[in-house]
Amino acid sequence: MERNPDIRRDYVVKMLYKKYDVVVIGGGLAGLRAAIEAQSQGASVLIVSKLHPLRSHSGAAQGGVNAPLANNPDSKDDSPEKHCFDTIKGSDYLADQDAVEIMTSSASEIIYELEHWGCPFSRTDDGRIAQRPFGGAGFPRTCYGADKTGLYMLHTLYEQVIKHSIDVITDFMVTFLIVEDNTCYGLMGIDMAQGRLETIVARSVIVATGGAGRIYGKTSNALTSTALGMAIAYWAGVPLKDMEFIQFHPTGIISKHILMTEGCRGEGGHIVNKDSKRFMEKYASKLMELAPRDIVSRSIATEIEQGRGFVYPADGSGYVHLDMRHLGSAKIMERLPGVRDICLDFLGIDIIKEPVPIQPVQHYTMGGIDTDINGTTVVNGLYASGECACISVHGANRLGGNSLLETLVFGRRSGDAAAQYARAQRQKSYLPQSAINSLSKFYESHFRKIAQSSGKEKHIVLKKELQETMDRYVGIFRAGADLQIALDKVRTLKNRFKYLFAPATGLKFNCDITCHLELEAGIDVAEAIIVGALKREESRGSHSRRDFPNRNDTGFLKHTLCYYNPKGEIKVSYKPVTITKYQPEERKY
Ligand code: FUM
Repeated sequence: MERNPDIRRDYVVKMLYKKYDVVVIGGGLAGLRAAIEAQSQGASVLIVSKLHPLRSHSGAAQGGVNAPLANNPDSKDDSPEKHCFDTIKGSDYLADQDAVEIMTSSASEIIYELEHWGCPFSRTDDGRIAQRPFGGAGFPRTCYGADKTGLYMLHTLYEQVIKHSIDVITDFMVTFLIVEDNTCYGLMGIDMAQGRLETIVARSVIVATGGAGRIYGKTSNALTSTALGMAIAYWAGVPLKDMEFIQFHPTGIISKHILMTEGCRGEGGHIVNKDSKRFMEKYASKLMELAPRDIVSRSIATEIEQGRGFVYPADGSGYVHLDMRHLGSAKIMERLPGVRDICLDFLGIDIIKEPVPIQPVQHYTMGGIDTDINGTTVVNGLYASGECACISVHGANRLGGNSLLETLVFGRRSGDAAAQYARAQRQKSYLPQSAINSLSKFYESHFRKIAQSSGKEKHIVLKKELQETMDRYVGIFRAGADLQIALDKVRTLKNRFKYLFAPATGLKFNCDITCHLELEAGIDVAEAIIVGALKREESRGSHSRRDFPNRNDTGFLKHTLCYYNPKGEIKVSYKPVTITKYQPEERKY
């Protein structure tokens, strides 16, 4: 019995909906920057996004974007080379050094471009872009707009999208890519507002869908960061790279997990344990609270584990304090007004008067869709950019402020590459007959399966179990036995997924269907994270194995590649890290 006939009917009726040179999936910073670039190269461009671009998770980025502008009196000696070295060292030498060189050498120019487009950065007294210290950086290098930098950047880029009349469809959830003979011809997805399944054909597609944080329960990520963007590329044959490297931001507010920007510490905030001691002295005596995030998060976790944290009665979890009282109200109101509001609204705490209870929370996926320095994937015509991609500029640990920079630099590069590819295909038909035939295959493997499911399992239950598993067994500290438990649980969830309750019918904002698809993506991407983590028998950056506490360059100075296998177990292979100037050294801060 077909439980959801609407799906079938709409699929047939709307098969050839729109044609573009370049379709960008995702309306965050990477997607917008890619679209602007592709359009400037003469391509017809469409942005499709689950939500309005101005509501994308890039807008939650608070503290800033790195560029060696040398505007701060303490950063006169900064340079692209020093930014490059800090990034590579921060990555625990897993970043590809050619990619980092591109990012840091383009940084100043691309920030000035944004400034000229009107981005309202905070200013120095003499009118230049203000810069604050951030973790793992040798100089105050992080350009900021108070503590709403991502939001300001998003508005600036969206203005350019409007100015250049780039088409945008919102409330559109891409469900899978049309790939035939290793070439991408477009995508299928749900126009949630219209309640229709749509096909959009394109000469090239850029996936710019952000992170996968909602695989975890304790995450700073928006509800929309669900892993589906990574999964559609993974399902289409592109490996996921270095997925085991999950960043935990040291300062998420207790119980709500909302980000307290690294800017709090950049402006001089302290982290203290229950004895009011600034314990970072013990773990990173030079940089203290401004050590890289992997180190600060591990230090907090260690203090809590060893009984020097507080206990949160509601869930028994441990926490420490972020204390900013000594900064004074004038500085807080000028530079950190947003985090003050967050603490007032969600905890009833005024950071001017009280310390804030914080604990590390999942924040970022260093890994993602495997691409080269132009966002190119192994599938012809398919590109990826931003957090969903792994180029890799962050390696095993990202420095704060480098993700916004990555979205600009590599968003632009992927937009350029996708437009050039599209131009080279202009003589060919948009969608060859073989790809049209394969549409039914995609339909069968996704929508019919969902529409006809007849089990008793509920997606909300499975999602919660997935999140609890990741929180508990795939966190800051890991061990082989725990990772094996996590893998077994996730594989059980994968099996239970087949027995989901049939979703409600209709496609108009049908969260039942979108949750089904996002759960499937979350389970598959979680499996890649765990498999990568189990096989990486060393500790590097954010991946800290209690059973393998040392970095092992002989065995593991390499990128993990996980390949989706619809018929069985994930396939794993490795590829070398690109080293140009900097040989791996021990990281000391
Ligand atoms: O702490 C923050 O403001 C976050 C920045 C980042 O993740 O780069």
